[in-house]
Amino acid sequence: RSIEKGNFKWSAPSNIALVKYWGKKDNQIPANPSISFTLNNCKTITSLAFEKREPDGNFSFDLLFEGKPKEDFKPKIRKFFERIESYLPFLKEYHFTINTENTFPHSSGIASSASGMAALAVNLMSIEKELNPEMTEDYFNQKASFLARLGSGSACRSVKGSIVIWGNHEETEGSSDLFGVEFSRNIHPIFKNYQDTILLVDKGEKQVSSTVGHDLMHNHPYAEKRFEQAHINLSKIKTLLESGDLQEFIRIVESEALTLHAMMLTSMPYYILMKPNTLEIINRIWKFRNETNIPVCFTLDAGANVHILYPENVREEVLELIKNELVGFCQNSQYICDEIGFGAKKL
Ligand code: PMV
Repeated sequence: RSIEKGNFKWSAPSNIALVKYWGKKDNQIPANPSISFTLNNCKTITSLAFEKREPDGNFSFDLLFEGKPKEDFKPKIRKFFERIESYLPFLKEYHFTINTENTFPHSSGIASSASGMAALAVNLMSIEKELNPEMTEDYFNQKASFLARLGSGSACRSVKGSIVIWGNHEETEGSSDLFGVEFSRNIHPIFKNYQDTILLVDKGEKQVSSTVGHDLMHNHPYAEKRFEQAHINLSKIKTLLESGDLQEFIRIVESEALTLHAMMLTSMPYYILMKPNTLEIINRIWKFRNETNIPVCFTLDAGANVHILYPENVREEVLELIKNELVGFCQNSQYICDEIGFGAKKL
C-alpha cells in the first residue's frame, strides 16, 4: 500500500510519576520500573501533514510551534527520527509539516517532552496504520509507546491512561522496558478523578537537564539501592491503588519525590533543583494534613514545581489552602488544575 498525502491530528497528555524513573541504560532503557498518573489538561496538540517526495536519503520536515516556524526544536525532532527510522521505514519517503501547541503556558517549567513526543509518536503510528490497515489497537498503542520512549523516556507513559507502568517488574505481568502498559488491576474508586494541582514555583530553565541527571546515576554511590527500592515501592503502590489506603499511598509518593531529589543531592557533581518556595509549600502541606487529616500530598518532577495530589472529594478544602496560603509561593501566582486522564486522543 502506498499513500500520496494526508493529515492527522492528535492530543497527548503529560503524566506525573508516583514511583520515579531516574537513571537509564543505552537506548532509553530505564534502570528501574516506574508508574504514573496520566494527566488530563496538560496536553500537547500536534497535527502532522505528510506528502510523498523523491527520497534523497535525508529527513524532510517543517516544524511549527503555535503556527510559527520554530527552528530550535528541529534538532530534537531530527534526533528522534534517526532513532525511530528503522521501526518506521517510510520516514524518509515523505515531507512532514508538524504543527504543535501546548495547553499549558510556554516555559512554565512543565516539561512538554512527554506530551510532545507522545503526540508525535501517535501521529506517526496513524500513518503506519494507513499503510497496514489490519493493525490491531493494542499493537498501535504498544508501538506508539515504544516510539515515544525513544523520544523521551517518560513519554511512553503518556499514550494511555489512567495509570501506566513502564519497565520490567517481576511482579507485573506484561511489563516491559520497551513500552508502557496500562495498570490492569481494579483501581479503587478513591482514585477516580484524582486531582493534581501543579504549583508553578520556578519557570526558569533548569540548571541541570534530565539527560544529565539520568547520566549521573552511572557510578552513583546509592544507585543500586535506589533501583531496588523502586521495585519494592512499585509492588507496594500497586496494592494501594487497589485497596485505596491513602495514608500508605501518601508515604510512598512523598518518599519517592524526595528520593528523586536526594539522588540529585548526592550525585557527583551534586545539584539542587528545589527552590526555597518548594520547601515552603511542602511544609505547609504537611502542616495542613496534620491539622485536618485531609489526605493531600505532594510529588515533584525534576524541577522546583510542586504537584499536589488529592482525591476529588476534598477538592474544595485543598483549593482553599492553595488560594489562601500556597499561591504566594508560586511565580506570578500561577498554578494549573489537572486530574487523572486517559491518554492520547485522535482529533
Ligand atoms: O523522560 P525524561 O528523560 O525527561 O525523565 C523524566 C524523569 C522524571 O520526570 C524526573 C521522573 C519520571 O518518572 O517521570
